[in-house]
Amino acid sequence: MRKFLLLGAVALLASAGLARADAPTSVELRQTGLDLVNGSFGGIRAVVAAKGDVKTLESPAKAIARFAALMPGLFPKGSDAGTKAKPEIWSDMDGFVKAAAGLGAASTKLAELAKAGDAEGVEAQVKLVGAACAACHNAYRAK
Ligand code: HEC
Repeated sequence: MRKFLLLGAVALLASAGLARADAPTSVELRQTGLDLVNGSFGGIRAVVAAKGDVKTLESPAKAIARFAALMPGLFPKGSDAGTKAKPEIWSDMDGFVKAAAGLGAASTKLAELAKAGDAEGVEAQVKLVGAACAACHNAYRAK
């Protein structure tokens, strides 16, 4: 009984972000990366809504673009079990790669506009980045 409680506590700690030294799986890497992308994008939208300094958004926008470039490689065949990855990712890998490239292009453009301090351009581009997330989710992520 005590052993089970201990195991439960360990599992809880692990899911709450306890660091480990063994290599992460593709599923862990992509889900963690997408959580970070989500946080970065939320921060970007908050700065835009608050009419903050858009120059500070270059770095999070670049980070999203870099992650987008890695995405197709984080979905190896057979890595859908217990996740929200739809089988369409593998039956239509070209479309999935295109959707990831769409996010890459939209967030690269966002980084350029941010660097230039173009607040209006950033505001419009944020919508296109959001559309790139939604386009992929609609086709390739289960509800
Ligand atoms: C190329 C396709 C694609 C793009 C582009 C994409 N996503 Fe996703 N996203 C997915 C898929 C597929 C999953 C489900 C992954 C899984 O369950 O392993 C997912 C899952 C997520 C999750 C849940 C992660 C978790 O902890 O399980 C979040 C949050 C998320 N996406 C946010 C975003 C945001 C924000 C953007 C845009 C800035 C974005 N995604 C762009 C395909 C995409």
